[in-house]
Amino acid sequence: MSHADDHAGTRRDFLYYATAGAGVVATGAAVWPLVNQMNPSADTRALSSIFVDVSAVEVGTQLTVKWRGKPVFIRRRSADEIKAGRDTALSDLVDAKAENANKPDADASDANRTLDEAGEWLVMMGVCTHLGCVPLGDGAGDFGGWFCPCHGSHYDTAGRIRKGPAPRNLDIPVAQFTDATTIKLG
Ligand code: FES
Repeated sequence: MSHADDHAGTRRDFLYYATAGAGVVATGAAVWPLVNQMNPSADTRALSSIFVDVSAVEVGTQLTVKWRGKPVFIRRRSADEIKAGRDTALSDLVDAKAENANKPDADASDANRTLDEAGEWLVMMGVCTHLGCVPLGDGAGDFGGWFCPCHGSHYDTAGRIRKGPAPRNLDIPVAQFTDATTIKLG
């Protein structure tokens, strides 16, 4: 039995606790298919873009929407979350690449992960880069960002992997603001 198995019950308790007050999509630890995640086929790319109204998203909260069959986290970060992300040295990161489809060759500095220059809006695929579980948000994990309960991956306030088996930062999809309160995915 692995160390992780020993703590399965604990993790499950945590999961229920963490999702109880969320009020959004309680996807928990469901495994989402990784099909086409890395190299989308033409069929997948052809699927429509969606527009998300983020006018009701308060600072320090997030919205989870489903897009192309997968969850997407749209977080409006607090000043503390922004500071934590920006104060982190690149040398402390596991994955030094932004993993941002909008900035293909950029490094993983906080400013290269967010949608706006002020760093308030973070849009990421809600799919753990280890084996595809949906990480828990709202400050979960040791780095105040997201925590994947499946095998214990901790992501920071910029969605960058900091501890655990996941190899890469959470992927950032093609996204942009089309007006002050609307984000287009795809
Ligand atoms: S799927 Fe997230 S840690 Fe394994």
